[in-house]
Amino acid sequence: MAEDQPSLLHKFVQDELPQELRDLVSTMPMENGWTEKHLYQYQGFWYNPFLLQALVTLQKHFHANDNDIFLVSIPKSGTTWLKALAFSLVNRSKYPNYQNHPLINNSPHALVPFFELDLNSNNEFLPNLNLSSSSSSLFSSSPRIISTHFSYVSLPNSVKESSCKIVYLCRDPKDILISHWHFANKVRKGIIDNLSLEEAFEMFCKGVSASGPFWDHMLGYWNQGMKSLNKKKIMFIKYEEIKMNPLLVLKELAEFLGFPFSREEEALGVVEDILKLCSFDNLSNLEVNTNGKMPFGVENNVFFRRGQVGDWKNYLTTEMVEKLNNIIANKLTEHGIQF
Ligand code: A3P
Repeated sequence: MAEDQPSLLHKFVQDELPQELRDLVSTMPMENGWTEKHLYQYQGFWYNPFLLQALVTLQKHFHANDNDIFLVSIPKSGTTWLKALAFSLVNRSKYPNYQNHPLINNSPHALVPFFELDLNSNNEFLPNLNLSSSSSSLFSSSPRIISTHFSYVSLPNSVKESSCKIVYLCRDPKDILISHWHFANKVRKGIIDNLSLEEAFEMFCKGVSASGPFWDHMLGYWNQGMKSLNKKKIMFIKYEEIKMNPLLVLKELAEFLGFPFSREEEALGVVEDILKLCSFDNLSNLEVNTNGKMPFGVENNVFFRRGQVGDWKNYLTTEMVEKLNNIIANKLTEHGIQF
């Protein structure tokens, strides 16, 4: 891309929409955005207009394979971590050497494409084509691992009807808020004004955030996962659980995805090795994640900040915590989702 061309990121943030996209969103409810000027509401959820365009196209044209793996989350739930973990465990026989692993030179986002960001020019979903030739062959392999922030209701029917697996990653909304607020300001820097924490908080509590309302997003997958016919299809994981008991969660994830660790692998420490490879300390210090960029202009380092549970304590006032905890209790805890 020529230096003087505005990056897709600039277009996102400044809401420079092509006419077809203007037409698409013209009748949709609109609110101020976080990493974009405006968010638009579609099927009950708030989306960036470019991602919305992809969503509508994917709803019409995408065909899931029975062995596809979907990693679903609200932005800032730890998607980057889950991508690294899922990629490493599914491909561990192909890449047994962690010194020379694709994660050493590729961001997790390059190895596990975003459903909504990786449409080719014919509007077909194709895995990220912007990889170096050495790693592009990763995507001709099976199963495909695909990540998305779409709500359950908006998933293409073919995803719901196929036997593909869905891993839903959830996180304490208070930490999602703080993480997303930091992320938004890094993305907005030099393009539009900073978002204050007060503004972000009000929007978040109103449900106006990427793929929000967060409670409806989480509940959509939670309720589906509770249905007995979906027990083998949807796995619900919490960021806090991975932090607290990484070995157990990784083994459960491997089992769920159909790639269980053998006794021999466990004895050899393969589970620990994958956790170490994908740890915050390791990934966040790799050259590709400190200085690399995503194809649409976002720097890879914005996906690594603190990687802690409970950082909200350093930012939210007592009143804010009370208000958000009430929302969490009413909308989520009552249905069985606890943090
Ligand atoms: P914080 O901002 O709280 O640090 P996403 O990947 O969905 O965009 O989420 C980003 C959040 O996950 C950030 O949270 C980031 O630091 C954290 N994160 C990224 N990689 C991680 C890893 N390997 N282990 C733990 N947390 C990670």
